[in-house]
Amino acid sequence: KRPAGAPDRSLARPVTKVGVVGAGLMASQLALLFARRLEVPVVMTDLDQARLDKGVGYVHAEVGRLLGKSRISADQANRLKGLVTGSLTKDAFADADFVIEAVFEDLGVKQKVFAEVEEVVSETCVLATNTSSLSVTDMAAGLRHPERVVGFHFFNPVAVLPLLEIVRGAATDDPTLSTAFAVGKTLKKSCVLVKDAPAFVVNRLLTRFMGEVTAAADEGTPLEVADHALDSLGLPMTPFALLQLVGPAVALHVAETMHAAFPDRFGVSGNLAELVAAGKPGLYGPDFQIDPEVRALFEGGSS
Ligand code: 3HC
Repeated sequence: KRPAGAPDRSLARPVTKVGVVGAGLMASQLALLFARRLEVPVVMTDLDQARLDKGVGYVHAEVGRLLGKSRISADQANRLKGLVTGSLTKDAFADADFVIEAVFEDLGVKQKVFAEVEEVVSETCVLATNTSSLSVTDMAAGLRHPERVVGFHFFNPVAVLPLLEIVRGAATDDPTLSTAFAVGKTLKKSCVLVKDAPAFVVNRLLTRFMGEVTAAADEGTPLEVADHALDSLGLPMTPFALLQLVGPAVALHVAETMHAAFPDRFGVSGNLAELVAAGKPGLYGPDFQIDPEVRALFEGGSS
């Protein structure tokens, strides 16, 4: 059944090569998913060879893990490793039909990335963004072909969570949207069409949820109590474990976006901001106990 609001699937254009801008953790997860499900070459770009090597290394390690669990055959593993490559220049996108960016969450950076990609790709190549909360319409502004820009928002861990928010910007045309839905379906995701509004739908809800949990901790509820208060509701993980998975910097960015858009309804946790400023990847240490430095930070009483 066609998802509500999705355009006629006959408008979808074929995708025979994918470009991924970035080689960080999200970008690498995307590269693997696209190669595995679309079975087409996927090329990642990043600023330096070390980042590229790390991204390609992640893909190879995950392929090894899938092989170890007999989820894929040895032939498939070799094929997958061959499909995902890295390049230092965006020229490698010249024959791509679908390019997705997963770079730093900054509108100016993403606009610059799309402007550079537009220099090398065909007029119909889809430009997708995995942004968590920025405006897809703003991201397309200034491009020669803003109609090929679409939001394509995945959830962590990308390989596991079925949801994909597809965002129609003000200029997005039907063939672009239709191609996005066709790709989403081949990726085996549950695609929903959402409005181009701050943080779309799901991060809007999650931000509210996370905001209230961090506020409780900011106000002095012990960290473990705030984190485990909802355990009996059967959530797959606690809020602070989710914060660790998403990354405090990303969570803070979404909270700031929501606060800027709706200051009366969304706050920004002082302690979350300090966690990010301190460069902490999450609340827990390697043994999944609350990190003592983070506890001290929260109990310092910032709010
Ligand atoms: N990366 C890749 N794969 C992972 C993973 C990770 N970080 N964590 C778990 N997995 C895989 C495991 O390898 C396993 O796959 P397998 O069956 O092939 O071996 C599968 O997930 C299930 O893992 P486990 O059995 O170890 O663990 P659980 O059953 O507890 O599930 C979970 C782990 C899927 C992460 C589950 O806890 C969950 O769904 N948590 C909620 C996640 C969530 O809400 N994400 C949304 C975040 S918001 C976001 O991303 C938006 C962004 O814009 C901020």
